Amino acid sequence: PTPWLVVPAAGQGKRMGADRPKQYLDLAGEPLLRHTLRRLHAAFPEARCVICLDDDDRWFRNAWMPFAHWQRVSGGAERMDSVLNGLHAMAADANDPVLVHDVARPCVMPNDLQALYQATLESASGALLAMPVADTMKRDNGDGASFRTECRDGLWHALTPQGFRHGLLLRALTQAQRSGALVTDEASAIEALGLAPRLVSARRDNIKVTHPGDLGLAAAILSAQAGEIHK
Ligand code: CTP
Ligand code: MG
Repeated sequence: PTPWLVVPAAGQGKRMGADRPKQYLDLAGEPLLRHTLRRLHAAFPEARCVICLDDDDRWFRNAWMPFAHWQRVSGGAERMDSVLNGLHAMAADANDPVLVHDVARPCVMPNDLQALYQATLESASGALLAMPVADTMKRDNGDGASFRTECRDGLWHALTPQGFRHGLLLRALTQAQRSGALVTDEASAIEALGLAPRLVSARRDNIKVTHPGDLGLAAAILSAQAGEIHK
């Protein structure tokens, strides 16, 4: 089988502070989003892909889309709203697997994509790529000082892709939207239903390009990965 893909790409990249959304900034000679789409396409060449784009987006080119079957939907105010627009637009059955991947993660590797997809098919509550927290975690007092050290045992960073059955994800995000909860990933909406998505341990180099320095970092990661992918 092949999954449906939703690629939320309607963000403004405010923390990047560039002259355009970060997905269109140059990364190793190409717009960042081309790297992301190429990685997804290499792993799932037959997938049907929905990309969420801002209505005012002046940068996206249809020719950049590597998938034969794809569609564009409008982004929403928050990431969750963009993903929901994507879920509504696709002609999926309730049981079809859907993988959601941030356009801002161009360094995701084939093995992690396959492992996440496998876990999505196996787990009734879905799955997400994640990474155990390595640093000691501090809680601040709201005034730039630390007053507590949080136990990092059992703490994970949530990455993407995250994968779920279409019907379950639609129900979870619809409920999150109604309740007004601020949901920054799909898994938190699933957790709010009392379900426990499976954590799939991922490579550390699947970074989300967020701040200006991250572009250089992503370029270094891509070049370090090149040998691995073509081996
Ligand atoms: N995203 C989206 N629709 C929104 C907000 C975000 O599709 N209304 C997407 C972004 O394009 C990105 C992903 O969700 O692929 C993760 O969001 P984030 O890293 O926060 O990107 P931006 O919102 O663009 O950045 P910032 O928060 O700094 O403005
Ligand atoms: Mg954002």
